[in-house]
Amino acid sequence: MSTPVKKVPIHLQSSQNRLLIKNGKVVSDEEITDEDIYVEDGIIKQIGKNLIIPGGTRVIDARGKYVLPGGIDPHTHFEFEFMGTKSVDDFYNGTKAAVAGGTTMIIDFVFPKKGESLIDAYYEYRQKADGKVCCDYSLHVCLPYWSEQVKKEMEILCKEHGVNSFKMFMAYDFMLNDAELYSAFDQCQKLGALAQVHAENGLVIAKNAEKLLAKGITGPEGHELSRPEEVEAEAVNRACVIAKQVDNPLYVVHVMSKSAAEILDQACKRGTRVYGETLVAALGTDGSHYKHECFHHSAGHVLSPPLRPDPTTPLSLMNFLAQGVLQVTGSDNCTFNKSQKELGKNDFRKIPNGVNGVEDRMSVIWEKGVHTGILDPTTFVAVTSTNAAKIFNLYPRKGCIAVGSDADIVIWDPVAIRTISVTTHHQAVDFNIFEGMQCHGVPQYVIVNGRVCVDEGQLRVVEGHGHFVETPTFAPYIYDPEKLASLRAEKNGVDDEVDQLQRIHTVHLEDDTLCPTPTLPDSAVSTPSCRGARPEGQRNIQQSTFSISEDLDVERKSCIRVRNPPGGKSSGFW
Ligand code: URP
Ligand code: ZN
Ligand code: ZN
Repeated sequence: MSTPVKKVPIHLQSSQNRLLIKNGKVVSDEEITDEDIYVEDGIIKQIGKNLIIPGGTRVIDARGKYVLPGGIDPHTHFEFEFMGTKSVDDFYNGTKAAVAGGTTMIIDFVFPKKGESLIDAYYEYRQKADGKVCCDYSLHVCLPYWSEQVKKEMEILCKEHGVNSFKMFMAYDFMLNDAELYSAFDQCQKLGALAQVHAENGLVIAKNAEKLLAKGITGPEGHELSRPEEVEAEAVNRACVIAKQVDNPLYVVHVMSKSAAEILDQACKRGTRVYGETLVAALGTDGSHYKHECFHHSAGHVLSPPLRPDPTTPLSLMNFLAQGVLQVTGSDNCTFNKSQKELGKNDFRKIPNGVNGVEDRMSVIWEKGVHTGILDPTTFVAVTSTNAAKIFNLYPRKGCIAVGSDADIVIWDPVAIRTISVTTHHQAVDFNIFEGMQCHGVPQYVIVNGRVCVDEGQLRVVEGHGHFVETPTFAPYIYDPEKLASLRAEKNGVDDEVDQLQRIHTVHLEDDTLCPTPTLPDSAVSTPSCRGARPEGQRNIQQSTFSISEDLDVERKSCIRVRNPPGGKSSGFW
């Protein structure tokens, strides 16, 4: 495995090596506390009040601001060759835009061509991304076909290359059939990897599309008409049924409709371990845009599954997040310029699928979720960062503000307002689905691995500052919640009995004997899963120690602890 190229010598960052964030409201997925945070060499070293810190430390005053774990976007497609073209946000532009919006880690998808070795494709992605990324990243791997070789390579990716999740498609011409899904899920189960599905019934979509074209419906409106929400819901149900047969946890990517979310809720109540991700696109806008007379406008909103014409969908999906029926938000950032969307000018089937979102995800979810009072800030942190970190086994290195965690921190101004526009966004794409949206909630500072990359609103990213982060299999969140609870207690330095992992499911289920935890193979507990050479600068999160720095006077107790504050507006607590 090649070592990522660091373009910026470490000494250039020395003035920013030590950082104290004072007076902020520190938000985790379960509480808000008044604490200061001391960061050194990219790692959170102390948390508390009256910290003793070395001279020369830069101090950032976060009074009146929230201090959040950096956002984690678990669903991006940078420089993705798809539908005869290539997405325009590359790993540099894409991660730069992510950081501008308060996201400090992304997970992209390796997409092998049909018949191509998964390992070769993985290396191609590493080569594309390493040296370009402005923040840390991990990789999921797609399975666009099924074979014995694929099965073997899945094992190698898990054991040697830091991959713990695979995406299967139930639509597109690279979809797997039910038997293949069964086999792929089964292999994920054996490896302790997470099976992800793109859930839409591809055969039904193809028939619907033929019929629409025969009727002369060729424009972008045909895209949604050919894949209505029951076509999504049916596939979600089928995926849940198949996953249950092999007792495999399932992660449904881009849940775009009420019907699909309801199916997930029912499946979970029946005892399937299933996690749901929705998209900022689905929370922030809707399918009414497909009726827009301008092709560029309507085609600019084309993604799959599509935005729904039912105008109550965004609010319903936000409520599903608040209730814990859905746990994660991604962007599915897969951007194509207007000229690329024109590939489908006369046939909606050929419009490259994908929209923006990596830059605006945090602000749009704050605006539509927290500012409206549907989500409290702790749930915001859960659905934009912590839950993804737990599910993809990055926690507690990522997804929380804790001693020993990476210093990926956002100082969030809940009162400031920004207006989203293609003219000011940092993405390469020439269209923005959130054009004109006013958002309360702006990242004032974004700290990526200890480096201040948004500084009083000014973007100062460094190409190549990020690293690939391995994701070990058998995530404790999924397989061993007790272990995760003890990890959390250890890093907090307190005997915290609260199993916050369970929190999501407790909210969700009347009966917490549902969604049972499977028996974990011994090997999974004792052996770190990534055996391959570790690129420079990476820590194995399974081996991390989360102890308070020696001989430093740390006052551990916070001034205010607000457990699960009731939903309410973000402003007005100080
Ligand atoms: O339309 C979408 N979602 N484009 C990206 C590919 C995928 O299915 O995630
Ligand atoms: Zn998909
Ligand atoms: Zn996607």
